[in-house]
Amino acid sequence: MLKTLELDTAMTPTETANRPPAYNLTIVGGDGIGPEVCQAALDVVKAAVGSARTLTCSDFEAGADCYTRTGIAFPKETLEACRSAHAILHGAAGLPGVLYADGTEAGQDFTLQLRNELDLYANVRPIKLYAGVTSALRRFEPGSIDYVIVRENTEGLYASRGGGVVLGDEVATDLMVITRKGVERIVRYAAELARTRNGAPSDGVKRVTIVDKSNVLRSFAFFRKVADEVMADYPDIETDYALTDAMSVYMIERPDTFDVVVSENFVGDLLSDLGAATVGGMGMSAAAELGDGHGYFQASHGTAPDIAGKGIANPVATILSGACMLEWLGHRHDDDYLITCAENIRRATSAALISGAARTRDVGGEARTADCVEAICKALA
Ligand code: IPM
Ligand code: MN
Repeated sequence: MLKTLELDTAMTPTETANRPPAYNLTIVGGDGIGPEVCQAALDVVKAAVGSARTLTCSDFEAGADCYTRTGIAFPKETLEACRSAHAILHGAAGLPGVLYADGTEAGQDFTLQLRNELDLYANVRPIKLYAGVTSALRRFEPGSIDYVIVRENTEGLYASRGGGVVLGDEVATDLMVITRKGVERIVRYAAELARTRNGAPSDGVKRVTIVDKSNVLRSFAFFRKVADEVMADYPDIETDYALTDAMSVYMIERPDTFDVVVSENFVGDLLSDLGAATVGGMGMSAAAELGDGHGYFQASHGTAPDIAGKGIANPVATILSGACMLEWLGHRHDDDYLITCAENIRRATSAALISGAARTRDVGGEARTADCVEAICKALA
């Protein structure tokens, strides 16, 4: 699943032989609950991998707290460490009160700049209802909600961060940026992903749903036009369309009809939070942010400052993001062992959710962060 497109063809036997002696991971805990859930994920990842591979983890700082202390949210050393790592694992960054003069959050610069610096164009967000977790949509059983949101991650409305214009104190604008290259690669990613999956739970049809607001804006009409051109190369995959506003209804009324969903950056940001709400909330929201050369792994959720340091944060989203990291590394370095480790983490997490041992308060249980880690590690063994 979590391959970077080019690798399908570029992987050669020589690269297998070149599997790194150690996987170097850059770890950024961040703010709020970030460090706790990041450590939890790392504990599980290490337990899953065991001594068969060497993971060399190095901690770096970035985010709101870093900004408060040093005046810089995303230090150069952290960027360099991210650039040179085999993969990056992040907790969460940003704090509501830590703002730039323009009113935007300083801590978000880590994630937002990293996406562009490393060209992490595909933000891949599985929306999957695990057994043991009750959906807000109680009529849908586990297995019936299982789709992936592929969010374009480098352009769209967020391309304007720091570049919008405020005229006097009266008018503000941010520009929507949609490029042919950006749409082509994200839709191709979505279609290739659909090929590796089993289709939508409702009917088993491999389907890519293109979400836009093409009935109103030219930028979105262009998104749909280019998306259509790409999908013409995939006659085996059904092309489906939804307007953004309608999509927020469909995701509640018939989430079982989705397989892979692809959209512009801002729309994908909103829809992935909505999707998370249907499968247990943000604590279940794993993500993989991928480019052709780099992989960055963090949950979709924020820093939850209200519960930070209490030991009660749900680490499952970051743990499942850690599984995505191993799967992606496995494909990239032709290391099947890591792909098996990723599967094991998902299976162990599922088992610990079913037994209740890994259910924190937000998903109806009583487990603390450490209990989750312990239960999942036990299920791994
Ligand atoms: C996400 C987050 C980020 C975003 C923040 C941290 C910049 O909410 O990954 O969805 O808005 O893209
Ligand atoms: Mn978000």
